[in-house]
Amino acid sequence: MAKAPPPLPPAVRRSPPTTIESSRDRERLRTVVFPEHSDLARAVAERIVEVIHRETRAKGRAVLGLATGSTPLGVYEELIRRHQAGDVDFSHVITFNLDEYYPMTPDSPHSYRRYMWENFFAHVNIAKQNVHIPDGTIPRERVADACAAYEEAIRAAGGIDFQLLGIGKTGHVGFNEPGSDATSRTRIVTLDTLTRKDAAADFFGVENVPREALTMGVATILDAKEIALLATGEHKAAIVARAVEGEISTDVAATFLQRHQSVTVYLDLPAADELTRIKTPAPSTARSSTGCATRFVAGPSSRRTSGCSSSRPIPMTTSSRWAAFSASCGRTRTRSSSRT
Ligand code: GLP
Repeated sequence: MAKAPPPLPPAVRRSPPTTIESSRDRERLRTVVFPEHSDLARAVAERIVEVIHRETRAKGRAVLGLATGSTPLGVYEELIRRHQAGDVDFSHVITFNLDEYYPMTPDSPHSYRRYMWENFFAHVNIAKQNVHIPDGTIPRERVADACAAYEEAIRAAGGIDFQLLGIGKTGHVGFNEPGSDATSRTRIVTLDTLTRKDAAADFFGVENVPREALTMGVATILDAKEIALLATGEHKAAIVARAVEGEISTDVAATFLQRHQSVTVYLDLPAADELTRIKTPAPSTARSSTGCATRFVAGPSSRRTSGCSSSRPIPMTTSSRWAAFSASCGRTRTRSSSRT
């Protein structure tokens, strides 16, 4: 007779996501910083699940605006996991993607259509006809009409309930490069040199990166009911600080988010590194009138009662930033001893 399998280890109790919250008097956008990328992905996915439940209950469908790039991959993984766990049904979800390179064939490894199917849609029960992605194969003379039709399809769906965004090093959201204004709608754009250089490795050389793209406009994005801007990694720190703390300007399309009523910026610690509250955590800037509201919460990786534990070593720069950030708030907490 086959030997009984060993008993499963007890389930690890999931704690609320780990976040850092502090004074934000320089911040013009609601910003939440997560020590762990996985916590960020879980928090965003949880919010999306809530929106899907709320909207499908209220109107029979939910409309999501979706992004590509490496940043949202963890969110898609988590949404797939939640779907497989039976937590969320995508059969009444309608999606609109932000952008696509132009020209671009759908089967190209660089196409955003392929990215979306491989990384998300193929793993959930979304209906094919509910997926909308700008078509990189449209003949040039029909591009303007196709872009107008894309706007019309968003309107016909009742508008976007939740828009997911990444940010490029130029400050673009979608492919709204410097110069894009607040009235811009879905259209064809010329990509910034920096954007093409950033994509060069994926395309095996900058000369292979398309020079143009189709993108929702700034106004299209701002029409969404709720917006989440995600950024991870130190290479995003400077542009994140500009978007969150800088003046609104056509130089940085992400600054237009400051005009929206319901935006949350989700960052990991390296991407938050240039925010004043972390870069210059002097008591005068790190305290608000209500005092420093630092909040460290144990993450899912924590098996102890202590907070913010991580199985991964914390790079020196990150841990010293963290220490400076905590000290500026007049706390003696460390990553392994703080908890609220
Ligand atoms: C591309 C996309 C953007 C995305 C950006 C950042 O330019 N058009 O929508 O936000 O890349 O990509 P990543 O998340 O890989 O840094």
